[in-house]
Amino acid sequence: MTQEEKQAAPARSRSDQVIRTIVQEHQGLWRIIDLLDQLQQDMNVNANQPDELLFTTIFDYIEHFSKRVHSQPQEIMLYKRLREQAPETAELLAKLEKGYVLGHQRLKELRQLLHDCMSQWPDGREAFSHALTRFTQALRKHIKKEEGVVIPRARETLTQEDWEMIAEARDQTQDPLFGERVREEFRELRHKIISMTPEHLGGLGVVHSSRVTARDDQQEMLSIKGAVTSYGQIEVLHEVDITINSGEIVSLVGANGAGKSTLLMTISGLQPLDRGTMTYKGQDLSKVGSDRRVAEGIVQVPEGRQVFKDLSVQDNLLLGAYTRGMSPEVENDLEKMYSKFPILRQKRHNLAGELSGGQQQMLAMGRALMAKPRLLLLDEPSMGLAPLIVEEIFNTIKDLKKEGITIFLVEQNASQALALADRGYVLETGSVVIEGTGKELLSNEKVREAYLGM
Ligand SMILES: Nc1ncnc2c1ncn2[C@@H]1O[C@H](COP(=O)(O)OP(=O)(O)OP(=O)(O)O)[C@@H](O)[C@H]1O
Ligand SMILES: [Mg+2]
Repeated sequence: MTQEEKQAAPARSRSDQVIRTIVQEHQGLWRIIDLLDQLQQDMNVNANQPDELLFTTIFDYIEHFSKRVHSQPQEIMLYKRLREQAPETAELLAKLEKGYVLGHQRLKELRQLLHDCMSQWPDGREAFSHALTRFTQALRKHIKKEEGVVIPRARETLTQEDWEMIAEARDQTQDPLFGERVREEFRELRHKIISMTPEHLGGLGVVHSSRVTARDDQQEMLSIKGAVTSYGQIEVLHEVDITINSGEIVSLVGANGAGKSTLLMTISGLQPLDRGTMTYKGQDLSKVGSDRRVAEGIVQVPEGRQVFKDLSVQDNLLLGAYTRGMSPEVENDLEKMYSKFPILRQKRHNLAGELSGGQQQMLAMGRALMAKPRLLLLDEPSMGLAPLIVEEIFNTIKDLKKEGITIFLVEQNASQALALADRGYVLETGSVVIEGTGKELLSNEKVREAYLGM
């Protein structure tokens, strides 16, 4: 507002202006909450995987309210004035302010649940959906309280001077509720949301880079830098650098004794790192024990299967979920494992030792999957198996990638492992000597000669 406008505008219309602004923002927010309902329904009823970018933008939009207020709730001028003029509203205002702060936390949780839902789809859908319902309910309640109680009370009790101050704050950029710059950002985000919303939900349906997860694919999941490890005096890994991005299959090939299994055990935390660093999703792993790593999603299928031969197939699978405790969810996962590997259902009461090599490999993988891996470490899953079974195992690995699991695959069967891989590394006597995309390695002269026998 210019100086003249300010002088020209009588106090009454000043309060009207302010209230109109708030009501407009509320209406905008309310429509977005409706959209969230529709998107949620689309996900639950039509089993459509959520559009992560759209959800994320919506969360950004809502966070605008909560984040700014989070830093300094007392800066909402309207609340401040009302608290002074109508002390009986103090309790409600404190609650609403707390709602902003809580909302900020809930949004963080929602973002995480959305991420889980994307990477474990369709698992994680229910948790995300429930949290979403609780969130939208709380938000609607918040708006109703502001519209139904706060604004009417403000109309009744605030003086000309109060409205003057509120309007003043509104014109400044920093008012967390409706400073001009804040509102500018709202508008921008809202525009983005509308353009991304599918046409059948009333948006423009602009095609956008499919999902945040697609961008996520480029995100580092595991980063190993300068890793050195030894057995006694003998150094086995020499300054190994390896990066695994989320969503990738990365293959590691190398001759007998190169140190492949040792590297996997170092990632699992079963073999100590002498030097170098290892970070998983940005977190330093040096002080994280092997059990915790499993709970965080780093799960290894060891070389030679190593199933518990004297336990039943079912008990072997349940052991995979030991970090998760027994729950209906675990039983549900057991069912899923049986649909993925029907042979395991058939043999669920057999001792694992009675299974063929291929069946044992499936059991070993099923057991690892029961731990809900984010990063699955496979140590020579095809070793000693007949070609038909090898194909089956590799197909399973491809499916796991589709389910959003990131895979680090150690193989001597280099041609198949590299054909499957997004990227690959060649390990020779403890050092990475070649790295590149799966295709690059397959056509690399040296790799062809040494590992593909061509
Ligand atoms: N527990 C151990 N104690 C001492 N040395 C070991 C131990 N385990 C492995 N080694 C040695 O460390 C080196 C790397 O072994 P590692 O098992 O990691 O190789 P690999 O690439 O997995 O081989 P393979 O293809 O045979 O599985 C080898 O020289 C091996 O003899
Ligand atoms: Mg090995």
